[in-house]
Amino acid sequence: MIRNFNKFISGEYTISYLFGRLDFYKKILQFKNKINNSKKPPKYFSRKIVFKDKNEKIVKELANQGFYAGIRLNNFTVKKILSIIKKLRVFHTDKDGTVYAKFKKPIYLKNRAIQIPRAYIEKVNQISEIRKLSRDFKCKDIFYKYFGYYPKTTNAIILVNYPIKMKVENRLEFETVKYHYDMESPNSLYFSYYLCDVDQNNAPHALIKKTHKNKPLKFVLKSAMVDNDKIFKYYKKKDEVILMLKKGEGFIEDASIYHKNFPARNKIRLMLQIRYY
Ligand SMILES: [Fe+2]
Repeated sequence: MIRNFNKFISGEYTISYLFGRLDFYKKILQFKNKINNSKKPPKYFSRKIVFKDKNEKIVKELANQGFYAGIRLNNFTVKKILSIIKKLRVFHTDKDGTVYAKFKKPIYLKNRAIQIPRAYIEKVNQISEIRKLSRDFKCKDIFYKYFGYYPKTTNAIILVNYPIKMKVENRLEFETVKYHYDMESPNSLYFSYYLCDVDQNNAPHALIKKTHKNKPLKFVLKSAMVDNDKIFKYYKKKDEVILMLKKGEGFIEDASIYHKNFPARNKIRLMLQIRYY
């Protein structure tokens, strides 16, 4: 018992192994949603997304790995979205309010005299091309097959990461460069598409395979954010997946997987993310 307790304290036993607390909570929500959100949405197909596999296979991989990297937007859609967003502003919101700027340059916060490494494009959910993507039945069906009900809401964002020199600790206020999982909504899928080529120099998204389930208690009880050295004491470095993909290509992830982005070194990164809750 004492040994078990020690293993429990050291994090060797997961929270779900001992209590099923987190999973239990997610299951309750899932159960509730299965009752409330079983109504099939309209069978609308945008024909803007290319899926490498059938939904059954995608869902199987999502369940096993926590992510699936076989989706892409067709070239026409990427071009159209780029042409629209280039005319829009980017913004940043914090306790002092919202600051807007032109797209090309990083936002400068006057009151703090700093440039910041990440901004969001304004009015993304109003772009008709993106609204069509959000409504796509195939995406909703993947969500349904994964969670057992249809998503209640979708939210699209476009993140812009700028190459700026800044210490990691300061950067964390603006972008998630440390591994973490998202807790805003416990059962959610993100469909992300790069709107430019992404390699190691422009903020690739990264994740750790299979960490969407069975997190150790020592991580669960603390903040959702974990230092690199600590996380790889528990998980294997070889399970880290750095998603370097071409313009238009993308991936689906369970938002509870450990993920982060690397800082941009010399080029802007643009990523469209459509979140299904
Ligand atoms: Fe996140």
